[in-house]
Amino acid sequence: MQKYKIAVIGGDGIGPEVIAEGVKVLNKVAQLDGSFEFEFTEFPWGCEYYLERGEMMPKDGIETLSKFDAIFLGAVGAPGVPDHVSLWDLLLRIRKSFDQYVNLRPVKLLKGAPCPLKDTKEEDIDMVFVRENSEGEYAGSGSWLFKNKPNEVVIQDGVFSRVGCERIIRYAYELAKKENKTLTSISKGNALNYSMVFWDQIFSEVGKEYPEVKTSSYLVDAASMFMVKDPKRFEIVVTSNLFGDILTDLGAAITGGMGLAAGANINPERKFPSMFEPIHGSAPDIAGQGKANPLATVWSASQLLDFFGHEDWGKVLIDCIEEVLCEKKVLTADLGGNCSTSQVGDEIVRKIEVKRI
Ligand code: NAD
Ligand code: IPM
Ligand code: MN
Repeated sequence: MQKYKIAVIGGDGIGPEVIAEGVKVLNKVAQLDGSFEFEFTEFPWGCEYYLERGEMMPKDGIETLSKFDAIFLGAVGAPGVPDHVSLWDLLLRIRKSFDQYVNLRPVKLLKGAPCPLKDTKEEDIDMVFVRENSEGEYAGSGSWLFKNKPNEVVIQDGVFSRVGCERIIRYAYELAKKENKTLTSISKGNALNYSMVFWDQIFSEVGKEYPEVKTSSYLVDAASMFMVKDPKRFEIVVTSNLFGDILTDLGAAITGGMGLAAGANINPERKFPSMFEPIHGSAPDIAGQGKANPLATVWSASQLLDFFGHEDWGKVLIDCIEEVLCEKKVLTADLGGNCSTSQVGDEIVRKIEVKRI
């Protein structure tokens, strides 16, 4: 029997609440399939751990995680710990240490999901964002000079390496080619006269290897406008770390909200474990109340199944999410329902049993 070793980091706020449902769902899939199983190992890392021990994860945390096939993460961040400390020492540390340079974020309007845009149908919003996830604006490079002095200066560098840009752009071209979709690059070469001019240059250079892929390039300001006014322009989208972060929250807003948006942090070479997570944060405003929507986490569980070659099961999970959304009987408050996180998870499990492949 194939065994997948999964490190589970529930993290903070609603993270552990939604991740418990994801684990429940994955266990049900494995049980019904019978040819593989999951061995989940939970790590209590996060802000509480930090407040007790002064670190977000142990010194050898990365080494510990490197022995796993994948990481399943809830969310990180709590009011008592500065966000740049909690995120840099856990989530971003994992993404960077394991060179998870592809952040794959579907922005797809599922059947039954609420859409705030007028006259917009499911087929009008069906994108996959390929967000650069290792450098760019989030390289963590900069300096803080003359701290607390009148001449204080803060510099935050954007780091765009040739290798870093080429590999993410090539990944996006490959995906567009494989899926026979268009590819859109989103940048900002008019104002960011080094980094984004370079990005655009590499987008066109790599594109020469893919004459069959139809491409477009948008400036990020116009792209955000078109995502709202005419989302069907976009299929596969490749963009930088910061722009991808912001635009995928916008993507969530037009496809049912943060409770429905999933993401996978992929190391395509599979040299290191990849990490699957909902893209939302720890939502301190609703934490501990059983109100969090676990469907984003279920979607990221579907991405995990795809990653291990179980696309048929990945699709079953998406079908189950769509059924729950269409029936509108078992939903959390963000989607207009009055059910709890675990009731929604249980409903997905019931539906998997019916649908089984
Ligand atoms: P957030 O995503 O946590 O919350 C934004 C809004 O969306 C809140 O109103 C919240 O209640 C709602 N929401 C989010 N997920 C939901 C869900 N599953 N079900 C229902 N409603 C949901 O973003 P924020 O408030 O900007 O950040 C809170 C904390 O999370 C901060 O510490 C931030 O740094 C951190 N953060 C972590 C991650 C991550 O771990 N991947 C991502 C984003 C933010
Ligand atoms: C996300 C989050 C993270 C990011 C933060 C919490 C560092 O916003 O995964 O979208 O910007 O990548
Ligand atoms: Mn984000």
